[in-house]
Amino acid sequence: MQKTLTFLLLFLLLFLSVHLQLQCEAAAINVDNDDLIEKICRKTPFHDLCVATLQPIANTPGSNIKGLASSVANIVLGNATDTLHYIEGLIKQTSDPKEERALAECAELYISVVKYELPQAIEALSKGQYGFANYGISDAAKLVDQCDKGFPGKSGSPLSDRNKLIHSLSQIAVAIINVLAKG
Ligand SMILES: *[C@@H]1O[C@H](CO)[C@@H](O)[C@H](O)[C@H]1NC(C)=O
Repeated sequence: MQKTLTFLLLFLLLFLSVHLQLQCEAAAINVDNDDLIEKICRKTPFHDLCVATLQPIANTPGSNIKGLASSVANIVLGNATDTLHYIEGLIKQTSDPKEERALAECAELYISVVKYELPQAIEALSKGQYGFANYGISDAAKLVDQCDKGFPGKSGSPLSDRNKLIHSLSQIAVAIINVLAKG
């Protein structure tokens, strides 16, 4: 009876210590990533947005700057794709021809961003062609800015918040890639 108890107790201790060790390792990974994110985001023009964007995706071990850059570029692409769908939805709803024209121009701009500019930039980034990657992302940010300009009337662009977010995320991506390029 006593032997069984001792055995159980030992087993429990062993289990607890392994469990604790695993938890400590996980915590250490998070601290490392938080440090990296903080360091990188300080070099971008939108520190808080940068941290908020990177923190949820950077909890995997071995995060590095290139991985973070590519994650941000993919988030820009995700937002741009989402916005393109949103524009297509607005086009279906509007009855104002001027508004419809402005939306159609935005859709065209977003199609180049989603189909060409960003995918090419992401591929360039993966090959270490940082200059080319930044060129594509900056170009995407410029195209997105143009989208706001075509809307008539006082109420202006129904897309300005989305455009602004994509513009800011692009600038964050460019800043991180600049850090990479400097090595
Ligand atoms: C758009 O960007 C926000 C802010 O970084 C991010 O949290 C969100 O996941 C992105 N959306 C898509 C569809 O990628």
